[in-house]
Amino acid sequence: MNIPLPPPWRIKVVEEIPFLSAEERRLALAKAGYNPFNLRADQITIDLLSDSGTGATSAAQEAAAALGDESYAGARSWFRFRDEVRDLTGYPHILPVHQGRAGERILFTSLLGPGQICISNTHFDTTHANVELVGAEPRDLPCPEAADLDSAEPFKGNIDLAALERTLTGPEGPKVGLVLMTITNNGLGAQPVSMANLEAAGELCRRHSVPFFLDAARFAENAWLVRERDPAYADWTPRQIATRAFQLADGCLVSLKKDGLTAIGGFIGLRDDDLHSACEANLIATEGFSTYGGLAGHDLERLAQGLREVVDPAYLRSRAASTARLAQMINDAGVETIQPPGIHALYLNAGRLLPHLSPREFPGHSLGCQLYLDGGIRCAELGSLYLGGMDDAHRLVTPAPFELVRLAIPRRVYTDAHLEYVASVLAGIAKAPERVRGYRIVSSPPLLRHFKVRLQPL
Ligand code: F0G
Repeated sequence: MNIPLPPPWRIKVVEEIPFLSAEERRLALAKAGYNPFNLRADQITIDLLSDSGTGATSAAQEAAAALGDESYAGARSWFRFRDEVRDLTGYPHILPVHQGRAGERILFTSLLGPGQICISNTHFDTTHANVELVGAEPRDLPCPEAADLDSAEPFKGNIDLAALERTLTGPEGPKVGLVLMTITNNGLGAQPVSMANLEAAGELCRRHSVPFFLDAARFAENAWLVRERDPAYADWTPRQIATRAFQLADGCLVSLKKDGLTAIGGFIGLRDDDLHSACEANLIATEGFSTYGGLAGHDLERLAQGLREVVDPAYLRSRAASTARLAQMINDAGVETIQPPGIHALYLNAGRLLPHLSPREFPGHSLGCQLYLDGGIRCAELGSLYLGGMDDAHRLVTPAPFELVRLAIPRRVYTDAHLEYVASVLAGIAKAPERVRGYRIVSSPPLLRHFKVRLQPL
């Protein structure tokens, strides 16, 4: 008999979560300018805003942290961290950074400049912003299969190889300064990238002498989905698959706030000596010396241990199963999600659930607000509020292709009972979706709008 196994951990330390009344939530959201980023964490019952830095550490990680060596240079903890990352990735040069976007800034400053193009399957929002900040153009080339949210295609996170080749061989080819593959594709439904796609994209880049990098924030989850969905890798361990993926690239950017199983951390992995020297100088000037890069010794210790735990097949299997169960409950309640479910997040199709709201009324944002109003659940919109083009009066001119809401699932934090509660709140909304109101923008910053925008219900 094949009994599904529970998570390979039990809970030693717990944290209380707040339950506000409906009236308290209504007031809190109004005070936050109807932007969940402005809510206080103690006003939230279930926080699905991000899976970044929100995971639970293990007893082994905390024990390691007690051994943290806080020496300014050459700390013992640095060598433990560096050896673990080298062993996992195979890159000779490892530069620690305090989080992913610091690595983005440092790498892009060395590799990209005005007039250049950075190509990705999909840039994450800070990655997009950091490419723009050095004067280059971020360009997304997702595979055509990604446009069908409902299909069961296994690797919808892939890059469009034909479009990549066209760009590299066309008149814009010489302007391409970097190709960056996001694994898993966070901007596009947490969908994995196949090993064949990584190989082919890497090969194209080599042929055109363009650096090929991974944005590997969720390298272990991508590896697990490869193992599950590509029979050629069914006998590989997640760690072997991850190492193979790193081998296919010239380097990587990794936010360790996800698959590092810690609250903070990241690294840049590099093969090229000159690029390493340039990035290292920038790192020392802006993040910290090259043996700590903005991290404390105790962070480096937690990370070294977290990187071992995250590739445990039992952990990845139970996390993937938990997300899939939540997807099933949500779908059974009549709310559609991007298929097939990934691991770190589910993406609700708010456009379909709320057809009475036009993109100008931000259906994704409306659904996100309703989840807070009805259940104290916080999540993030991925629709026209985040991606749409606006005029000077903050009215939507170009809608996003889809109106989505991301439910990001912190690692080792919520039990299935918490996730059942989320599904029940959504089921309640799905019973009378027409009562969900739209929103309009009151004020908005020029860059990274969704973080600081303020809105009002219509
Ligand atoms: N790349 C990807 C694919 C990410 O998902 C993130 C962060 C980053 C880079 C930046 O890393 O936050 O450590 O600076 N994603 C979080 C999220 C914030 O909620 O998806 P960071």
